[in-house]
Amino acid sequence: MKVSIIGAGYVGLVTGASLADLGHDVIIMDIDIARIEKLERGIIPIHESGLDRLLDKNSNRISFTTKMEEVVREADIHFICVWTPPQKDGSADLSSIRAVSRELGKNFAKLKIKTPIIVTKSTVPVGTGKIIRQIVRKEYKNDFSVVSNPEFLREGQAVADMMRPDRIVVGSNDAESAKIVASLYQDLRVPVIITDIATAEMIKYAANAFLATKISFINEVANVCDLVGADIEGVAQGIGMDKRIGKSFLKAGMGYGGSCFPKDVRALQQFSNNSGYDFKLLKSVIEVNEQQRQMIVEKLINNLSTLKNKNIFILGLAFKAHTDDIRESGAIDLINRIQKQGANVSAFDPLALLNAKKSLNDKVKFVAQAKEGATGMHAIVIATEWPEFKDLDWLEIKKQMTEPIIIDGRNLLDSAQMRGHGFIYEGVGRR
Ligand code: UDX
Repeated sequence: MKVSIIGAGYVGLVTGASLADLGHDVIIMDIDIARIEKLERGIIPIHESGLDRLLDKNSNRISFTTKMEEVVREADIHFICVWTPPQKDGSADLSSIRAVSRELGKNFAKLKIKTPIIVTKSTVPVGTGKIIRQIVRKEYKNDFSVVSNPEFLREGQAVADMMRPDRIVVGSNDAESAKIVASLYQDLRVPVIITDIATAEMIKYAANAFLATKISFINEVANVCDLVGADIEGVAQGIGMDKRIGKSFLKAGMGYGGSCFPKDVRALQQFSNNSGYDFKLLKSVIEVNEQQRQMIVEKLINNLSTLKNKNIFILGLAFKAHTDDIRESGAIDLINRIQKQGANVSAFDPLALLNAKKSLNDKVKFVAQAKEGATGMHAIVIATEWPEFKDLDWLEIKKQMTEPIIIDGRNLLDSAQMRGHGFIYEGVGRR
């Protein structure tokens, strides 16, 4: 069976390369001609560890195109991997999904294709499978099926997540098509959940919303730790060893960001609301996440009295370490907040400088190396948990600063060591 990937973004490229690595022939399509031309020349438009090697290793099984007709002629199973950006009210914008469905339907009809399978990989609200069915049906009168096969990929670890997933979820109202899609992954030898399409769509949102809830929960516990003199690292360890809770996603800090959690939590809240259910817990999860950024501002003000004309150096701009992605990054939000308070901001990130420059105003001063930014600073904020920040020459940095204040928004540094160096050090919920 030949597989098509529609949308050569982060999800599409990782899915395509991984399916090719599992031995399937893959055609990857995007309407962005420049992007496809680059990919044909081996230039990867995104930063994802291991993706270049995987694409290169399987290049004999992967082709690229900008034409839907070619996709429909060559492949039997079509993975929709297009972007579903959030709209103002938080709901997912499905216009790309709709456009792709229409094009697929038209080409199925034109080329008289028999029993094609359409798979959604993009995160789509419950009910999108039905919408796709209706749109394709308008154009194409024969049999076809729609399957939901959500991804659970973390940026920076997406290739590993794709090749060693905890589970594969496949949902369809057509059992035979679900089995065909599941069989694409059989060599991975991991548990497969076959279910109906609405359940599969819901699994994706529930998974992301639950993880975001875990983060907001541990952040609130950290805030209380700050008040009562307990230590959040110890608390996270103590509760995480209970297998029912689990160790991961208990890192307290400035809150979650990225292209998925904020968008998916809002979308789940929005479509719950549209269905007549007020998802109260998610409202608080969102609120707490915003509060964590403001709390860093408060910690700065508590130490400096005012931020007006104070020089603040932000270490880290990406929404998490090992990526250049700044979408919904806590660091960017924080910079906007402290600029509003009148602070002069400078910033550094090992990978995300270029992207950050595009999204921040020209009052932010960017430095090319972390050690260059400390001179004359009244405070440093750690906003992304880049491991290399731990190895900076902190004693030297302290000499250059006007005030020795560190607010560690990611609990990255060793608090005892920093205080030992003479810094006024504050993390989130750390004794
Ligand atoms: C996430 C999901 O993990 C993935 O399954 C889904 O498909 C897409 O969204 P990603 O956005 O790449 O992946 O990042 P992730 O590593 O999950 O981190 C998300 C955010 O939460 C980051 O801002 C991170 O700093 C923050 N985080 C994570 C915490 O604040 N504490 C934690 O304990 C874990």
